[in-house]
Amino acid sequence: MSAHAEPVPMTARASGPLRGVAEVPGDKSISHRALILGAMTVGETRITGLLEGQDVLDTAAAMRAFGATVTRHGPGEWSVQGVGVGGFSEPADVIDCGNSGTGVRLIMGAMATTPITATFTGDASLRKRPMGRVTVPLSLFGAQAVGRAGGRLPMTIVGAADPVPVRYTVPVPSAQVKSAVLLAGLNAPGQTVVIEREATRDHTERMLAGFGADVRVEEMAEGRVITLTGQPDLRPQTVAVPRDPSSAAFPVCAALIVPGSDILVPGVSRNPTRDGLYVTLLEMGADIAFENPREEGGEPVADLRVRYTGTLQGVETPPHRAASMIDEFPVLSVVAACATGTTVMRGVKELRVKESDRIDAMARGLEACGIRVEEDEDTLIVHGLGPGGVPGGATCAVHLDHRIAMSFLVLGLAARNPVSVDDGGPIATSFPVFEPLMQGLGAALHRSAG
Ligand code: S3P
Repeated sequence: MSAHAEPVPMTARASGPLRGVAEVPGDKSISHRALILGAMTVGETRITGLLEGQDVLDTAAAMRAFGATVTRHGPGEWSVQGVGVGGFSEPADVIDCGNSGTGVRLIMGAMATTPITATFTGDASLRKRPMGRVTVPLSLFGAQAVGRAGGRLPMTIVGAADPVPVRYTVPVPSAQVKSAVLLAGLNAPGQTVVIEREATRDHTERMLAGFGADVRVEEMAEGRVITLTGQPDLRPQTVAVPRDPSSAAFPVCAALIVPGSDILVPGVSRNPTRDGLYVTLLEMGADIAFENPREEGGEPVADLRVRYTGTLQGVETPPHRAASMIDEFPVLSVVAACATGTTVMRGVKELRVKESDRIDAMARGLEACGIRVEEDEDTLIVHGLGPGGVPGGATCAVHLDHRIAMSFLVLGLAARNPVSVDDGGPIATSFPVFEPLMQGLGAALHRSAG
């Protein structure tokens, strides 16, 4: 839904210890993929633990518009009656993906090799983001795209009537681009090959295999080579969505910077392609125990026990780790502000084309809260002020970006003065229960400034 309601100002202030169990919602990436692959499968796919954030609800609505029957049975419990690979019908209206780059890019891929036409749009944030990164490879299949200048939405995709398979090396580390190409390859005859020089989240490959597609992943000199055989008969699945490590990052990081905290975050995905934040926090000296490791829904999961120590040190995150923590840099920069010493985040230029320019949004807000920051196109450096050292006392601009909003609210829990955000509304795109969940742990965060 692109219509953005009135801004929801929010404020967080220094809080007592955070204690208790934080049951964060289902993984956003896996939720989108479960709906889309369910829609491309004949028969009924059942999903449990689906994230009911606005991004995913928009993808559910889009799948209905392409002809699938998508039904909610209870909290997180959904079913998709799919139409099969190549079975999408032409939507009667514009597809509105709201705030979601993942939604729009994956759906463009999924429809690009079916002879139908669809027009996509989104909110003011999504309409600024580059779509050329998916329409270039989709054109190799035979699809056509017409959008605004710079490859921006609104954009119309004319699906290929006679698709050909593609061999494509992804030029930027992007799971969305990789996934768009793989989903397009589903309805192309023969083998579609996607090569990524740096590994990105692998949920699409895992889930394609789970739905019965012939997909092979090889580590070669040129990178990760993924080979998909087109036009499979996908088999309906039961998908148990694990909890989102990117959402877990907020209570986890809050517990690491609020004195006396001790929390448990159960059932979080520990997929190695999503694990960079946790690797980094351990390097900083964080006390995080990964208890009860197990497999759920084809993903490794664990219960995270997180305790405050007050001894975090700044670190350097290497460029090769960036893809595995790409959504976590905003909240890492908050932890860095509360750590002792300097944290250098390298290879992070993709942050500039997320829901906002996240390097700029974090740098400006951290500076307003009294923290010294340096940045260049590809790097963010935060000079930590140590436990209790962050002044706070500012209102930070969110730029329609959920993770920027949650990051500054986490900062407010540990700063000397309250930290406000101009709009907490976008939090509902990925973490609709953020506010009650954090309050339940003892966080003093509330709607409306003051
Ligand atoms: C996602 C991929 C990443 C990430 C986004 C979710 C996905 O985007 O930032 O939140 O589900 O494939 P990029 O592909 O642009 O890196």
